[in-house]
Amino acid sequence: MVLEFFYKDKVYSPGRNIGDYTVIKIMGEGRFGICYLVRDGQTQYIIKQLKRGMLRRNKAKAGYEAEILMSVQHERIPKFIKELEFKNFYGYVLEFKAGRTLEEVIYDEEYIFPPLEIYQIGLQVIDLLKYLHGRNIVHRDIRVPNILYDGGQLYLLDFGLARWIDNKKYTVDIDFSYLGDFLLHLYYTSFEFRGNKKKVWYEELDLSPQQSMFLKRLLGLEQRYKSIAEVERDFILSHSPQNYNNLPQPQ
Ligand SMILES: Nc1ncnc2c1ncn2[C@@H]1O[C@H](COP(=O)(O)OP(=O)(O)O)[C@@H](O)[C@H]1O
Ligand SMILES: [Mg+2]
Repeated sequence: MVLEFFYKDKVYSPGRNIGDYTVIKIMGEGRFGICYLVRDGQTQYIIKQLKRGMLRRNKAKAGYEAEILMSVQHERIPKFIKELEFKNFYGYVLEFKAGRTLEEVIYDEEYIFPPLEIYQIGLQVIDLLKYLHGRNIVHRDIRVPNILYDGGQLYLLDFGLARWIDNKKYTVDIDFSYLGDFLLHLYYTSFEFRGNKKKVWYEELDLSPQQSMFLKRLLGLEQRYKSIAEVERDFILSHSPQNYNNLPQPQ
């Protein structure tokens, strides 16, 4: 009855083939599947293999990533190439994008993001959310391991939790709170802990009152935003260098 949970998913090691694709390396193993870097001739791709337990328990849920990726077309979202289905294997092939995840940039490289760069990254993420929300899609996993960054442009990955917005269970709110948390990760790269007593983020980070208010609204500590258009407007007002450099300075 529960035997299916005892089956191990087949893991393809480097050098093995998945259909016409040769595995180069395993990129990661998540809750729902395994992600491989593969090649077909000279071209590299990503294959996401879904775990069998996950498929058996909920085939419908497992299908959202493929369905949603197939419906989008954006230069900052890897293209869906095709589904792969064999005996005991279900997955799909995605376009490979070069770059490091922001998680690697922050925690491995220990890169410190200056305010202007945070602004440029924030604008790109907001632009992607505008595109997705405009197509009734909520991503639900805007986090540093799911964003690739080459020092200028970024790519949004991992639509494993993405859903069609229904304004009941699936609303835009979750993308706003994750965006707030995401921006805090970037801000904390320049924070130096000097043995000071632990304070809340809006006390210890060097933020303008407008920036604090913007982040509090994203995180739901103040009145929540209703739309990505409102978020974009306030982000530009509070973060654009033209705007915050011209704020009246204290005398
Ligand atoms: N299209 C892609 N191009 C380049 N790297 C990718 C791509 N898709 C996924 N990756 C890499 O694989 C990792 C895991 O993929 P992801 O879609 O986030 O799956 P999950 O988090 O469910 O394991 C990512 O953090 C990233 O490093
Ligand atoms: Mg992920």
